[in-house]
Amino acid sequence: MDNIKVRGGAPLRGTLKVSGAKNAALPILCSALLADGEHVFRNVPDLRDIETTAQLLRHMGVGVDVDAPIVKIHGRPIEEPDAPYELVKQMRASVLVLGPLAARYGKARVSLPGGCAIGARPIDQHLKGLEAMGATISLDHGYVDLVVPYGRLRGADIHLDIPTVTGTENLMCAATLAKGRTRLSNAAREPEVEELARVLNKMGASVEGAGTDVITIEGREVLQPVDHAIIADRIEAGTYMVGAAITGGDVLLEGITFDHIEVLCAKMRQAGITVEREAGGIRVVGKPPFKPVDVTTEPHPGFPTDMQAQFMLLMTLAAGGSVITETIFENRFMHVPELQRMGARIDVRGRSAFLQGPSKLQGARVMATDLRASASLVLAGLVARGETEVLRVYHLDRGYERIEAKLGALGADIERVHGNA
Ligand code: EPU
Repeated sequence: MDNIKVRGGAPLRGTLKVSGAKNAALPILCSALLADGEHVFRNVPDLRDIETTAQLLRHMGVGVDVDAPIVKIHGRPIEEPDAPYELVKQMRASVLVLGPLAARYGKARVSLPGGCAIGARPIDQHLKGLEAMGATISLDHGYVDLVVPYGRLRGADIHLDIPTVTGTENLMCAATLAKGRTRLSNAAREPEVEELARVLNKMGASVEGAGTDVITIEGREVLQPVDHAIIADRIEAGTYMVGAAITGGDVLLEGITFDHIEVLCAKMRQAGITVEREAGGIRVVGKPPFKPVDVTTEPHPGFPTDMQAQFMLLMTLAAGGSVITETIFENRFMHVPELQRMGARIDVRGRSAFLQGPSKLQGARVMATDLRASASLVLAGLVARGETEVLRVYHLDRGYERIEAKLGALGADIERVHGNA
């Protein structure tokens, strides 16, 4: 498995084009199951998770050509609407085929994803919603077996107990071909949900209210294939924004929509970092030590859990104490012991991490089993004294397109070391 070596000290400077959003691309590629014909998706990031999604669709008999940033999907009726454990265990987001399969084929067999490094992550809300739409669901040897007795889902009023992102996406897809009207309340408001709705509407669906907490979907008989370019990745952008600030750099991020990262920009500004909207992008100029800022993760439009690890790193370089509270996932502090090994002063109590800065970070060999935690360790390497080796970058490759090339182009001293396994 590959490792990444970083030698700290170089400021990041220049312009960076933000890639397409992973968490928008995944549900959108799965939504292609809803319509036969040739779909073309543009601005798709070149990531392992995209390849896993392609494998999953191919496994079901759908033709997929991946030539990033373009993915073509040749939608056709499939015979095996199933997502096997071997693929689901590589990527939890595989569960995103459940809604489209239920809607289109009235049956699905999808492995339960199980827990993962950041928490238990059940899918009860997805299943509850599909049951309300008329599906019968049983659990069989680790699989969700779904059957729609009358062949077609029917619209329903569904209140989600938690505004789950992939749950909202699954149910939105399911409702597009259901008979009648579906109303989803306490829906997730993330930009990726809105983007999926945009694609579904291009397919001919009738989805209203995406981006608010009530989404209404009027079911259609049939949908058409689409040609669509995917929005930029707000979390990738945020990660490089933190990289620019901690290294005393100056980076223009191209392609990102300010509204998608408004809360991050506000928190970075509070920390004393310059974040400016410019034609074509967002410029970040910063230099430690920063002002201490507390953050609590929340569903969108609150502070994103996917930026918590990177922001915590930023706060290790703040002059004073700050508190970072994680409310979305119960175990998303895997970066903490590794940052501590690099010299950060962090004390975790329950769901909060209490930081005392500024720390002088030192390079070390580190490892994390979560994508965003791994990203924070690469960023830590950019400012640490000496060399940092981030082991098993498998997780990073799931969500960051060529991170070493992008950081290298901005001036970082970084290289990928290819492993044997
Ligand atoms: N939850 C339930 N029951 C459910 C669904 C969720 O209890 O049926 C809980 C989860 O266990 C968690 C919380 O609700 O505690 C929120 O989970 P959510 O379902 O919103 O997360 P997700 O849809 O599985 C997506 C992103 C994650 C991101 C979260 C939160 C995709 C493919 N994944 O996951 O992205 O952290 O929303 O914003 O969209 C990442 O990119 O690194 C990543 C983990």
